[in-house]
Parts: sequence; structure tokens; C-alpha cells
Amino acid sequence: MAEKEMNSETAEEEPSIEKASETESEEEEQEYKLTDLPGIGPAAAAKLEAAGIYDLMGLAVASPAELAELAGVGEAVARKAIQAARKMLKLGFVDGLEYAKRREAVEKITTGSKNLDMLLGGGVETKAITEAFGAYGSGKTQLGLTLSVNVQLPRDMGGVNGKAVFIDTEGTFRPERIKQIAEAIGANPEKVLKNIFVARAFNSDHQMLLVDKIGEMIKEGEPIKLIVTVTCIA
Ligand SMILES: Nc1ncnc2c1ncn2[C@@H]1O[C@H](COP(=O)(O)OP(=O)(O)OP(=O)(O)O)[C@@H](O)[C@H]1O
Ligand SMILES: [Mg+2]
Repeated sequence: MAEKEMNSETAEEEPSIEKASETESEEEEQEYKLTDLPGIGPAAAAKLEAAGIYDLMGLAVASPAELAELAGVGEAVARKAIQAARKMLKLGFVDGLEYAKRREAVEKITTGSKNLDMLLGGGVETKAITEAFGAYGSGKTQLGLTLSVNVQLPRDMGGVNGKAVFIDTEGTFRPERIKQIAEAIGANPEKVLKNIFVARAFNSDHQMLLVDKIGEMIKEGEPIKLIVTVTCIA
């Protein structure tokens, strides 16, 4: 309905504006491959991917020594590649307007509670880390489980049409609870469970390994929009 209304109102001018901004953002978000970097050929790129570096960001934040070892190149070459990656990503300062534009890509996932959503400015943000801390039994795990369900909702219902990853460090993932939460919002429990990838992490190294694996899954096309990790601080 809303779409129809917009179309009939906007006649001829609006589409050209939309087009202009689309091209602009396409340019901005141009995806460079690892092999676009100087000194990184297909063989080195394959080694980097095997080590969990899939994109320029992963490379831009690597150290030359680390990269040299992973990719089997000299440190000088590694340093050059890292600098090139940083340049391509335009890391550094941006003006406020540019920053605002980037923020537009941030989406919100409903917590299921209107009040909590309001406190969070509309929900849990994508492209960000949200930390929940509280006493035993205050609902941290329930929040993680609920978000794993809600992330799958369509955008007009407070979700982002995505899948979730649940890294279970405590053994607190409960499929039965997910089913209850899904049923409560009228979603198909089986489908909801199918869209949550669960892994048990046994220590922090293992957790890192799992995080690398998520990068691989996203690269393979899984629309993962939420990562929940329930950490235990003893
Ligand atoms: N199946 C359920 N139905 C309704 N409420 C539930 C259900 N399971 C748990 N809860 C509620 O959630 C609370 C526990 O919350 P949760 O396990 O998320 O706490 P937590 O903050 O993760 O605690 P901890 O620090 O011990 O891990 C319980 O007190 C209970 O009220
Ligand atoms: Mg918990």
C-alpha cells in the first residue's frame, strides 16, 4: 500500500533522484577483492582466506608480520598490501555528513519489548556490538534467544530478514525455548530453528575459530545478520 502511494505521488522526478543515490552508493560500496591488492595473487589470497581473512577490512587490520606469515609473502609486500587495503577502504576520518550516510545502512532488530527497544533507540543495531550485562537470571540469555528469532522477521515487523549465529559458551541454547518464542510471534518454529546456526565454543581460541567460520558462511551467501555469544565471566 505504502509503496503504491509513493509511486503515484512521485511522478517523474523522484525516480531520477533514487537512481542518482543508488549509483553513488554502488560506487562507495564497490567490493574490492583481496587480489586487487599489490603483491596479493590468487595463491596468496587463497592462503589468506584459509586463515580467515576474506576481505579488505580483515587485511587492513592485520599486522605486516602476521600477514607475511599467513600469505607466504615477504614483510615488505605485506606492508604494501595492508597500506593499499587501508587506502581503498578510506579508513580514517570522514565528515559528519558522510558518517550520517553510512549510519543509514544500520538497521534495528526489535528485542520484543517496546520499552527496551525505546531505550536502545529502536532496537539492537546491526553493524554494532551490543553488550548486555546483569545479575543471574536477569534475562541476558533470553534476550539473546529472542533476538535470534526476531532477526528473522521481515523489516516491517522489526526484523531484518536475516539469520542468526548463536555461539554457545555456556550450553544455554535451548531449541525448545526458541520454539516457544517463535510460536509466540506466530512464526513457524522449525523454520526459525533452521535459520539459527548454533555452535558450542569450548574456549576462547575455539570461539575465534568459529568467528572466522562465520565470515566464510557469509561469504558463501548466508544472510547472517546477528551473532549472539553468551559469555560466562566467573
Ligand atoms: N521458558 C520460559 N518461559 C518464560 N520465562 C522464562 C523461560 N525461561 C526462562 N525464563 C525467564 O528468564 C529468566 C532467566 O533469564 P536468563 O536465563 O536469560 O538469565 P541470564 O541473565 O542469562 O542469567 P545467567 O547470568 O544465570 O545466565 C528466568 O528467571 C525466567 O523468568
Ligand atoms: Mg544466561
